[in-house]
Amino acid sequence: IKKIGIITSGGDAPGMNAAVRAVTRTAASKNIEVIGFYKGYAGILDKDFVELSYSSVGGIMEKGGTILRTARVPEFKNPEIRAEAARNLKDLKVDGLVVIGGEGSLTGAKLLFEEHNIPVIGIPASIDNDIPDTDMAIGVDTCLNTAVDAMQKLKDTASSHERAFIVEVMGRGSGYIALMSGLSVGAEAVIIPEVPVDYNELTDRIWQERKRGKINCIVVVAEGAASAYSVARHFENKIGYETRITILGHIQRGGSPTAFDRILASRMGYSAVNFLLEGKFGTMVALEKGQTVTVPLEKVLSEKKVLDPKLIDLVNTLS
Ligand code: F6P
Repeated sequence: IKKIGIITSGGDAPGMNAAVRAVTRTAASKNIEVIGFYKGYAGILDKDFVELSYSSVGGIMEKGGTILRTARVPEFKNPEIRAEAARNLKDLKVDGLVVIGGEGSLTGAKLLFEEHNIPVIGIPASIDNDIPDTDMAIGVDTCLNTAVDAMQKLKDTASSHERAFIVEVMGRGSGYIALMSGLSVGAEAVIIPEVPVDYNELTDRIWQERKRGKINCIVVVAEGAASAYSVARHFENKIGYETRITILGHIQRGGSPTAFDRILASRMGYSAVNFLLEGKFGTMVALEKGQTVTVPLEKVLSEKKVLDPKLIDLVNTLS
């Protein structure tokens, strides 16, 4: 391999820059050229790229967002558009492509590999932690820390005013962010798409706790389960608290990555280059039992990540 292309694609995730830095520096140490395409697959289609070097990626690890910028490119579902991207990569003599992103982005990578033999490797990056076969994706830890910090602040004001807060978090179809942030702040309840909610039972439980003297209540709701507004309607006049709503929104996607995300991104970026050199094309770097391994993209994308039932039981037991 003489020239590696990198894209960051789909929703951004804190730690993407640390991955770009690790890929670039690992490649540079082996005298492999690196180019970074701007705005994900759009940059490949427009041949819009920047040459990356050991020194040009200095000082980016701690930055949130992605210096390569990102985009969702729905046109990539069209096989002719993918053929154009493959032609551009071949024209530019890119003989290894690192795709940093979530499921949609990894699907594009899989198709470039299967249809056009482009030597791709994926790096999982998505705050949702919904990518199968890897224990963690880049950005999850920072997102959780941001959500927990915000909820802790809400808990302060909730206690002062004896209020309930319904906090809506991201996660697309997954309840991971809601479950883990709820666990971390000791939320009274977590509403996630994976578990049907019985509002009668829930409102009754919160009301009982209120009667016993509780002065705050945090209910975390995953966007994939319900909106905070619809949950509030179920609670109206039934829980004994005045209720407020907070939607954390895109705050969850920004910020300087935590040490965990910097380390994970560095390990995955470094491994991605080494796996490409070993010819492990059409795969994704995954974290499995503490080690970086490869998993075929075909396998990753044929599965759905399931929330560990033990974690759900843990949260139910402690809340
Ligand atoms: O996949 C990451 C994510 O932040 C989801 O949690 C959320 O549903 C979605 O992206 C929001 O996408 P956009 O930034 O395009 O509004």
